[in-house]
Amino acid sequence: MPSRPTEVVLGPDTLRTDRGVFSGDRIDPGTVELLRVVPPPPATGDLLDLGCGYGPIAVTMAKRSPGATVWAIDTNRRAVALTGENASRLGLTNLRAIEPDAMPPELRFAVIWSNPPIRVGKERLHQLLLEWLGRLTPDGRAYLVVHKHLGGDSLAAWLSGAGHATTKLASRKGYRLLEVRPQ
Ligand SMILES: C[S@@+](CC[C@H](N)C(=O)[O-])C[C@H]1O[C@@H](n2cnc3c(N)ncnc32)[C@H](O)[C@@H]1O
Repeated sequence: MPSRPTEVVLGPDTLRTDRGVFSGDRIDPGTVELLRVVPPPPATGDLLDLGCGYGPIAVTMAKRSPGATVWAIDTNRRAVALTGENASRLGLTNLRAIEPDAMPPELRFAVIWSNPPIRVGKERLHQLLLEWLGRLTPDGRAYLVVHKHLGGDSLAAWLSGAGHATTKLASRKGYRLLEVRPQ
């Protein structure tokens, strides 16, 4: 039986991946949508990829904003290790892949990009988003990609109801790209 692929191609780059991480055999189509339409990240400051997996979003942020520091977090240790490894292989010295508990508490993020972990369940997802959205700078923005079948529209409504003005920036193939403001 052929072994599963252990690499995915992200534009001109090849990223190492693994069967133990999210979408380890191909780049997730939602992630592709986010990377296709998200506005350019700020040139400086601290930027966050919430739920980095093997790192396709964090690596792209780090390449698009070489003068910023990109923080990539995931509760899956293998994912954190792969993101760190992929950053090193691509020579990205501005990317820090860590577990969420290791995040310096004083940091505030100019942007958050995320293909969030919908499958943790609504309550945990909401808690997680409130926690990290609460760490945006006053003029910061979060960009979240969520498929409509996974609750993209209801999440937008919930975020607005929770005081985070949320707009649908783009919608293609069922994927919603949400732009979320601080409370
Ligand atoms: C939908 S996947 C996206 C992975 C990657 N960003 C991508 O685009 O392929 C969501 C990720 O969130 C991670 N995750 C789950 N709970 C988390 C938490 N509490 N904090 C940070 N990451 C979490 C999962 O392990 C998973 O890797």
